[in-house]
Amino acid sequence: MPSGKQQITTPQSSHPTDPISSQASSQRPSSETDNDRCVLDDFEGRVHCDDNLLLMRELPDAVLNLVYIDPPFMTNSVRQSSHGATYEDRWSGGIEHYKRFLRERLVQIHRLLRTDGTIHVHIDHRVAHHVRLMLDEIFGAKQFLNEIIWSYRTGGVASRWFSRKHDTILAYAKVLGEHTFHPQRGGTYRTDGLNIDETGRPFKNTTKGRLYFHADGPTLTDVWDIPFLSTVSRERTGYPTQKPEALLQRIILAGTNAGDVVADFFCGSGTTLAVAKRTGRKWLGCDCNSEAVAIARERLARIENPPESP
Ligand SMILES: C[S@@+](CC[C@H](N)C(=O)[O-])C[C@H]1O[C@@H](n2cnc3c(N)ncnc32)[C@H](O)[C@@H]1O
Repeated sequence: MPSGKQQITTPQSSHPTDPISSQASSQRPSSETDNDRCVLDDFEGRVHCDDNLLLMRELPDAVLNLVYIDPPFMTNSVRQSSHGATYEDRWSGGIEHYKRFLRERLVQIHRLLRTDGTIHVHIDHRVAHHVRLMLDEIFGAKQFLNEIIWSYRTGGVASRWFSRKHDTILAYAKVLGEHTFHPQRGGTYRTDGLNIDETGRPFKNTTKGRLYFHADGPTLTDVWDIPFLSTVSRERTGYPTQKPEALLQRIILAGTNAGDVVADFFCGSGTTLAVAKRTGRKWLGCDCNSEAVAIARERLARIENPPESP
């Protein structure tokens, strides 16, 4: 597993007048006609090592079914794992700099989504309010689906306010009503005294006989209790801020069908891509940090292609 430190340029340099952005506009297709010639097949099934804005600009319109992004959270620090892997999350121009960076990319993602598509943006209390307004503006407030609360328990306790132990995932449809959504089940029923029958199905006794509950648990709401990856988790790759596969599994199973295309443009260690591959979705990933890309590629190579569906 790669562990060397690497300085990356993205947040500090992604300003419209920065070299990285002007390179984008001069080298990338400048017209719809150029874009139309692109074929998604050239891009999918790969982890691209690039500034994601450059990659997005190369992709044709309306080709993705689900986009999940987990961008830097504006922690104003260099994110570092115990293994030494790092990525930059410092923004010299403050919140306006961060918003400019994200806005350009959200506009592109909106263009790339199919009409049945959805976007999921994973952030936390530092920028959630800014990002919600930006998504309202770019996607339209009417396309809002959910503010998913990912609740977890990690070490560290605040003494001056309640400990901040959740992240927020903002979900929007490209076109509400045409978007793909499959309700998911999980967790345990709150009903006291449930019995389990011979086949493992939960039920309670009522005056009219047995009232059965779904064996997979209740329908999920927008608050998800999923454990944070422990330091000894088998899933751990050593990349900082790696997210649990269980979280991405819910998002992907709810928002796509087998064979759909899932993209993660801030893919880090490749969690989204790994789940997409394992569940029979097409996928494409991008990260500007070569260390992340190496980890993600290695992780994906270890996953067998799922058998073709009959
Ligand atoms: C929070 S991490 C993603 C972690 C990932 N969800 C996982 O499970 O491993 C954010 C990632 O965004 C990447 N990043 C930041 N700016 C980027 C840009 N302009 N283009 C591509 N990747 C970028 C960073 O290198 C970092 O790996």
